[in-house]
Amino acid sequence: MPQHVQGVIAPGRNEPVRVETIVIPDPGPGEAVVKIQACGVCHTDLHYKQGAINDEFPFLLGHEAAGIVESVGEGVTDVTPGDFVILNWRAVCGACRACERGRPWYCFDTHNAKQRMTLLDGTELSPALGIGAFAEKTLVAAGQCTKVDPAVAPEVAGLLGCGVMAGIGAAINTGNVGRGDTVAVIGCGGVGDAAIVGSRLAGAAKIIAVDIDDRKLETARTMGATHTVNSRSTDPVEAIRELTGGFGADVVIEAVGRPETYKQAFYARDLAGTVVLVGVPTPEMQLELPLLDVFGRGGALKSSWYGDCLPSRDFPMLVDLHQQGRIDLAAFVTETIGLGDVEKAFARMHEGDVLRSVVVL
Ligand code: APR
Ligand code: ZN
Ligand code: ZN
Repeated sequence: MPQHVQGVIAPGRNEPVRVETIVIPDPGPGEAVVKIQACGVCHTDLHYKQGAINDEFPFLLGHEAAGIVESVGEGVTDVTPGDFVILNWRAVCGACRACERGRPWYCFDTHNAKQRMTLLDGTELSPALGIGAFAEKTLVAAGQCTKVDPAVAPEVAGLLGCGVMAGIGAAINTGNVGRGDTVAVIGCGGVGDAAIVGSRLAGAAKIIAVDIDDRKLETARTMGATHTVNSRSTDPVEAIRELTGGFGADVVIEAVGRPETYKQAFYARDLAGTVVLVGVPTPEMQLELPLLDVFGRGGALKSSWYGDCLPSRDFPMLVDLHQQGRIDLAAFVTETIGLGDVEKAFARMHEGDVLRSVVVL
């Protein structure tokens, strides 16, 4: 029997989001219905609402979530009802060229539920990143459910489903930060701070946090930054070079998504160092760099999608490290809110005074 639950939809471009009744079909083959316990508010949800991702309104927002599997469809063996899971938007196919080459984090045929969730009048919903978890329950592909230690708080676990994983992964997966490395992180919101946590975990010797907001720099220090630079008042390239013996950092992580900060990252890295772009640019942005510098400075310029994570490998590991006190993911939860507060959370996100607002159900 299809179920009726409450969920947060974005009805049209720039229209305020609202809570509506959603119809959830029974899970079909390869699908699962998950009872959501917590879901963080991410920039991508706001971008969906603004129509910046695509035009497939109405959207069922929310994609940074954890909950309990309620029911599974035919052929599902990896998860069973009662399992505590983090939802992921990288359910790898195992059969595409990337998967077959042993690089499943580049999978280009990731799975989502085949059936659609709808409004009461039958209007089909587009779930954000194939998840749609600002809702009491949601329908996903079973591969989107990653089992983790159920002892972790859901509002903490859910964050690994997107932004925090993107940041930690930018450091440990894409940037391959290692013991003794110097790292600079430009932009210290939720993603940049997670990159700081990842860099510290990986054994970085120096972690330089760069932001234009002193409040963000203070938080960055509590996350593990050893030095801070306010790039509104100080040239960050000069400052990073000075702090690294004149060389520049081994790995510079750009967590803003703008050409000017990317350029800073490019010039603030040591010769043959690595630049990681994890901030998401907008379509009109252009980057201009002397090609001779790109060539002459060597090294690697990489982008990091979802922190190049493999959910089945990374989520349980990071939850365990959190439970052991070796990383503090709870520090990313600024506030917990209700389903009706998502619009307010977007406003707070815009003002820059939260790392994460998390809807708790
Ligand atoms: N130089 C340095 N820092 C900047 C600059 C700048 N020119 N402009 C903005 N910032 C800082 C902000 O002060 C803020 O601390 O970048 C940070 C951005 O943080 P959030 O807005 O909280 O965004 P976050 O969730 O961390 O995501 C960062 O990654 O996933 C993407 O879409 C996301 O592009 C966004 C980026
Ligand atoms: Zn694949
Ligand atoms: Zn997200």
